[in-house]
Amino acid sequence: MAKTFKWGIIGLGRIARKFASDLNMVPNAQLHAVASTSAERARQFADEFGAPYAYGNYAEIVQCSDLDVVYIATPHVLHAENTLLCLEHGIPVLCEKPFAMNRQEALRMVNASRRNRAFLMEALWTRFIPAVDYALALIAQGEIGDVHTVKADFGFHMPFDPHSRVYNKSLGGGSLLDIGIYPALLSLFVLGKPLPEHIQAAASFSSTEVDESCAFILDYPDKRLAIGHSSIVANTPVEASIYGTEGTIYLHPRWHFAKKVTVSHYEGNTELKRDMEFPFEGWGYHFEAAHVMACLEEGRLESDLVPLDFTLDLMETLDAIRERIGLEY
Ligand SMILES: NC(=O)c1ccc[n+]([C@@H]2O[C@H](COP(=O)([O-])OP(=O)(O)OC[C@H]3O[C@@H](n4cnc5c(N)ncnc54)[C@H](OP(=O)(O)O)[C@@H]3O)[C@@H](O)[C@H]2O)c1
Repeated sequence: MAKTFKWGIIGLGRIARKFASDLNMVPNAQLHAVASTSAERARQFADEFGAPYAYGNYAEIVQCSDLDVVYIATPHVLHAENTLLCLEHGIPVLCEKPFAMNRQEALRMVNASRRNRAFLMEALWTRFIPAVDYALALIAQGEIGDVHTVKADFGFHMPFDPHSRVYNKSLGGGSLLDIGIYPALLSLFVLGKPLPEHIQAAASFSSTEVDESCAFILDYPDKRLAIGHSSIVANTPVEASIYGTEGTIYLHPRWHFAKKVTVSHYEGNTELKRDMEFPFEGWGYHFEAAHVMACLEEGRLESDLVPLDFTLDLMETLDAIRERIGLEY
């Protein structure tokens, strides 16, 4: 009989609700324990999603017996602390993006995973969305020839509120770490190693001193470019195009959980297009949850699709972009 995986969640905000609802769709997954800064919120959340254990602080959840894995869904600035708490108790972790505030912090988390032999993965759910997975497989097979440009954006209009997580600098606010990470991760997944030789970036800032909009260019060897844009003050198309010498792959909006891919091939001056649909139910977080369980089942300490070295490279790239725009936390 297949093992049931008992999940815990730390931080019961917006994304935790979506994740818990998607977890219901994963065979053999069970929400076992939740932890909040508020005992009342923990109890309500546990009742709503059927978790037997509810904690009114984060420290106690690691004492919960039988936990197989904990999902960290707190603001960015708490990811390292919350992840380390679990790992030091030998509990596997799926940690929300951005994994940490910088590469140095991320490395401490990675080292703790390796030292304690406890699984760790950044929750880059986009990698597990079937349309994205399909696009990456096509690119790897050479379907559009040699890739020379990756272009992606992610922007949404978020009314200004200095206290909201997205505008609050002390919580790691700003567009780059919240959503600019998506164009960055697509570039890294497609263009791989070595990392870009040169990075250019510019940003506009809110009165709370976080980047409202950020644009970056990753300049790779061999004439390859990645162009990314993020914004918390504008609704942008949220689309991604990957251009190769023989064609283009277009991930339809919102590309980071795309349900449609268009593949185009150049035939002289014309472009032949074919569409592929990848419908799914739920928000799309069930794919990453199922992958984590498969990794645990196989006794892996990290994912083969989102390995820890990838996360460190992504953090390094985000650090470099932040350095260019002059954003320090
Ligand atoms: N993968 C995705 O698609 C996706 C989407 C959105 C967000 N995220 C990531 O998930 C993380 C959480 O985002 P969210 O949108 O869910 O945020 P949110 O709605 O603000 O929830 C964050 C939760 O963290 C807890 N928390 C602990 N200390 C806090 C503090 N000082 N200030 C505010 N909250 C605090 C709170 O829960 P308790 O009081 O219950 O502990 C709060 O509800 C972020 O790192 C974000 O980048 C990922």
